[in-house]
Amino acid sequence: MTDIANEDRGELLRVEQLTKTFTVRNAWGRREGEVRAVDGVDLTVHRGETLAVVGESGSGKSTLGRCMLQMETPTSGSVSYEGTNLTALPRAQRAPFHRSMQVIFQDPFSSLNPHRTALQNVMEPLTVLTTEADPRSRAIEALHSVGITGDAVEKYPRAFSGGQRQRIGIARAIAVRPTFIVCDEPLSALDMSIQAQVTELLAELQRELDLTYLFISHDLAVVNEIATRTAVMNRGRIVELGPTREIFENPLHPYTQRLLDAMLVPEPAEARRRLARIATRPEPTADESGSNVLAERTPAHFVLE
Ligand SMILES: Nc1ncnc2c1ncn2[C@@H]1O[C@H](COP(=O)(O)OP(=O)(O)OP(=O)(O)O)[C@@H](O)[C@H]1O
Ligand SMILES: [Mg+2]
Repeated sequence: MTDIANEDRGELLRVEQLTKTFTVRNAWGRREGEVRAVDGVDLTVHRGETLAVVGESGSGKSTLGRCMLQMETPTSGSVSYEGTNLTALPRAQRAPFHRSMQVIFQDPFSSLNPHRTALQNVMEPLTVLTTEADPRSRAIEALHSVGITGDAVEKYPRAFSGGQRQRIGIARAIAVRPTFIVCDEPLSALDMSIQAQVTELLAELQRELDLTYLFISHDLAVVNEIATRTAVMNRGRIVELGPTREIFENPLHPYTQRLLDAMLVPEPAEARRRLARIATRPEPTADESGSNVLAERTPAHFVLE
């Protein structure tokens, strides 16, 4: 699907001037300072798209996703979903949004309850978040759609391989019929051979269920393959945003250029080494200016001024 087609389908989620700061404390609990994990981000997610968020470790990708899902309370700014300002909504009225907005985590082992079967794990959000008459059948259906069938549904997480556990995590997310899913590094814990299968599954589910993804990833090869648009984050800010092909073929911000240089190498260990090096390099002065204004340089391609 092209970016233009997604824009035609309108906005699903919008964050405005979103900021999240964390207090850093030392070992004795004394306040040592503040981290601006997300720093004045403006971003719109279009219905039906896969919007990738890339950036080195600590750049604020997960915090941005967690704020969208109301798993973190933003320090300031707003998150609107289907036209409703979630940040202004009383907690009691947020339940329908918790169903419609789901998450798939990097490590399915820690997100699944080890003392419950695959089926029980998938049933849990159905009983908590929906009024589904037959949560068991619905959970079995969701597990089938990710390829977990037969007696396997009664097994415990430890009996599955990493790829299968991630499939259970995906079943858990889609069982409640969400519209929007934050995929937070869903492939990082998996073997290379399994990554391709899970990527294909996510793409298939997106088509069948009309899902919108915020796809957080370190893996630019996967992003290049599946994302409609890509946002590049550095130190809590989006420094570049545009159609994925544009970001890869015509990166305009120096940080994006360095990130691409560092990550577009075939060998993961070498990519990590390069990434560690860019993290310690001084930033260009433009990033320190405090400006948060993105300018449209080519159509739909925005760069931090
Ligand atoms: N609960 C927290 N308390 C304190 N600081 C936090 C907390 N969560 C995140 N941070 C800090 O906020 C910054 C952004 O973290 P975040 O996890 O969003 O980055 P990320 O881009 O997802 O990194 P990674 O690629 O390693 O997952 C980091 O400096 C991190 O240490
Ligand atoms: Mg993260």
